This record gives sequence, C-alpha cells and structure tokens, in this order.
Amino acid sequence: MATTLLTGGTVVSATGRTAADVLLDGETIAAVLAPGSTLLGHDLAASVDTVIDATGKYVIPGGIDAHTHMQLPFGGTSASDTFETGTRAAAWGGTTTMVDFAVQRAGERVQDGLAHWHELAAGNCAIDYGFHQIVGGVDADSLAALPGLIDEGISSFKMFMAYPGVFYADDAQILRAMQVAADTGLLTMMHAENGPVIDVLAEQLIEKGKTSPYFHGVARAWQMEEEATHRAIMLSHLTGAPLYVVHVSAKQAVEQLAWARDNGQNVFGETCPQYLYLSLEDQLGASSEEWGDFEGAKWVCSTPLRSKHEGHQHHMWQALRTNDIQMVSTDHCPFCMKDQKTLGQGDFRAIPNGIGSVEHRLDLMYQGVVTGQITLERWVELTSTTPARMFGMYGKKGVIAPGADADIVVYDPSGHTSIGVGKTHHMNMDHSAWEGYEIDGHVDTVISRGKVVVDDGAYLGTKGDGRFVKRGLSQYLI
Ligand code: URP
Ligand code: ZN
Ligand code: ZN
Ligand code: ZN
Repeated sequence: MATTLLTGGTVVSATGRTAADVLLDGETIAAVLAPGSTLLGHDLAASVDTVIDATGKYVIPGGIDAHTHMQLPFGGTSASDTFETGTRAAAWGGTTTMVDFAVQRAGERVQDGLAHWHELAAGNCAIDYGFHQIVGGVDADSLAALPGLIDEGISSFKMFMAYPGVFYADDAQILRAMQVAADTGLLTMMHAENGPVIDVLAEQLIEKGKTSPYFHGVARAWQMEEEATHRAIMLSHLTGAPLYVVHVSAKQAVEQLAWARDNGQNVFGETCPQYLYLSLEDQLGASSEEWGDFEGAKWVCSTPLRSKHEGHQHHMWQALRTNDIQMVSTDHCPFCMKDQKTLGQGDFRAIPNGIGSVEHRLDLMYQGVVTGQITLERWVELTSTTPARMFGMYGKKGVIAPGADADIVVYDPSGHTSIGVGKTHHMNMDHSAWEGYEIDGHVDTVISRGKVVVDDGAYLGTKGDGRFVKRGLSQYLI
C-alpha cells in the first residue's frame, strides 16, 4: 500500500482549522499529526512513498456533490455529460464523491431503473458515487419497492411536485410514499414547485407570444415554489417523514423551511451556486449576437433563476450562514446549446432543463469565503461534511480523520481560476453557465481514496477509479 504525507498545510474541517500533517496509508487516512511529527521515531517525510507540500494551502475533505444528473433523459434528449466525462470534470473541481439520481418512470420497476443506473455508471466513474432513487411513478409496485432500497445502499428518494406527465406525483401519491419513508427511515427529497399551476401559466405566456427563455422564469413563479414547499412540509409533519427540499431558489421557500425547523421538524434544504450568483434578468433575459434572446436558454433550469430585484440571492447567502439552508449541491444537468437547448427555440417549455456546474462548486462557494459571506469552516461544511452526514456517508466521507477514505483536496487560496470554455472546462458542454467568472483560489491537488487524480493542471486518474458507495441512513436528523 502506497503511503503519502501532506505536509505544511492548514487542515480545515466543519468545526475548525489547524496546522497539521496528514498521513495516508493506501486508500485511508492513517493519522492527522502536529506539523513535522515523527511516528515511533520515524521521520515520516523520509519514510513515505510520496510527500505533497501543502505549505500555504488548505487541506480539505474532498467535495461531495449530492445532486447530479449524468446522462439524464429529459425533454427528448439526455444530459450531455456521461458518467465518464461528468465525474472527471467533478474531479478537476475538487469533488471526490457525487450522488446521482437513478430514474424510475411511471410504469417501470424501481429495481429496473436502479439496475440500469448501475450499468451506466459501473466502470466509468472517475470518483466515488452513490445514487438517490427518483420515483417518477408512485404506485403500489414502486411503493412496495422502496424499503428494499436501503439494503442496496440507497437511503433517499426524490419525488416531483412539478413536471406533470413526466415525473409528477400528486399529493395523495406523496402522502403514501412519505408514509413508507416514515416507517423505513428513507429520506424524502422533494422537487417543490406546483407543476400544474406552472404549466397553465406557461401555456398562457406562449399563447401571448412570450416564448423566450426569460418567460421560463416568469412562469415558474416563486409563489408556486413557496406553496409547494409549504405543502411538502405539512405532509412531512403529518407523516413524520424527514424532508429534504432540493434546489431551493426562492427566499420565501427558505422562510418556509426555517419556520418548519423552528417547529422542530426534520426539514432540510439545499441550494445551488446558480441561485447564489445568477438571475432572471441577467441570465435568462440575456441576449447575444449568436443566439439573440435565446441566449438565456443556457440558464434554463428548475427551480428557475430568480429576479435580482427581490432579494433572493442575499437571503440565500444569509440562509447558508444561519443554517436555514444546510448544503450546496450543483443539480448538474448539462445540455449543449447545439441540438439540445435549441429544441426549445420558439417555445421555452421545450428547452431541456438544467445547468452544468459540477466542476465549479468548490471554487464558486469559496468566493463566499473571499467576500466574507461564509467562513472557511462553513465552506467545508456546506460542500462536504453536511452532504456526507445528510446522506449517510459520514465517517468514511466528509472528514479528514483516521479511518476515513483518503479523499482530500489541496486548495490554494492565493491561486486563481478563470472559468470558461477553452480555459478550465472539462464538462461535456459547448458553453459554460459560468463563462468569464474569475475565481480567487485554485484546486491544486485532488486525492481520491489515496490516489492523486488531479495535480497542478494534470489529470492523473483513470476511468473506473470511482466505486459505488453504499450509503446508510441519514446521520443528520434532529
Ligand atoms: O433543471 C433541472 N433542475 N434539471 C434537472 C432535473 C431536476 O428537476 O432536478
Ligand atoms: Zn428537481
Ligand atoms: Zn436535479
Ligand atoms: Zn495553485
């Protein structure tokens, strides 16, 4: 087993920072030691196979992106990153574990959907990966299959209050699924937007000739995110099933989560970088020489980007500080403009929904540290430690401690990263939602279960390095 010593760095956890050396033994963290320590009389730097000098840098647990959609079939096409390209891009950005969504559609068996996702991912991933289960058709058969997911290492499932005719579940279906969740300990994840109302609003906009991407954001009104979030919270209260609301973008939805938590409910929320930085006006409303007002299609995702005049971004950063929102994932669901987003030219409803960010989450969130919005420790907590606890991986993942998997990022706070196609772009997309973003900070070295997979601008991993992570039940419940 190869041994590695990271020396001279500042080890950052969710609860503090300390100057320490980190000793890796094969795939595992063996020890966290005072700088320059000897072990049983041995000069460690002289005894290990590899020394990584982390002087002046942060040594953090590898990022965990708990919301990705590699190869997701959606809107008549499929997300453009495969498990191979998407996980490699994730590694470039310091993410060493992702949790993707296996898909079951109405009329299909949950077990078959899960088996298919295993086939897609196995042997292709650059980083470790787990799955949540999308239940796109709640019926007697899928409800009966839910408890069996736990033995498969799938401790969470997602339902949709949006997308009627695709993944939509009505309140009666949600109630039944939550009853199973309450009985079994499965964590219910919810896409909380009132889909039937949104679809009527969207149809009315199209009838008035309002067809551009901007109107995707208008149709998906914040009131319908607030309303659905509240409804999900009440169903969670009624059934006793813990609730995790995905991709929260409206400040009013945050307020609902905060209210429920103040009532002692096991209710949690995730936001994504796009809701912290991008807006209805500047992105969905953008136009370019190449695409005209269809430029905004690059940022069509659901929930949508919100108006910059309503205080959502400010409120979301605040919620990250106050723990009204517990973690940040990407909802990575990339589609190219060419042949994919263009399916919705002339009708925003047909634009495949999703933004690609899996490569940039750590960098984008580090900007919150630079600007004083969050602490260094909170950065680690939001991007690694809480995702590990929330989704039953903590101990192995999300922490630098003896016995944990040696998933480590050496982050250079004085480095610089320029985001954009042709610069630092490894996702399989013909554009970047983050084109032109200049980042203070740089992912220097990425270690995945003891193996250096990225080092100073070189990719050293191989396809299939990543293994399936069997997750346990959530370790985050109140
Ligand atoms: O726009 C999005 N979020 N696409 C992915 C599917 C989902 O709802 O998470
Ligand atoms: Zn969703
Ligand atoms: Zn998603
Ligand atoms: Zn650097």
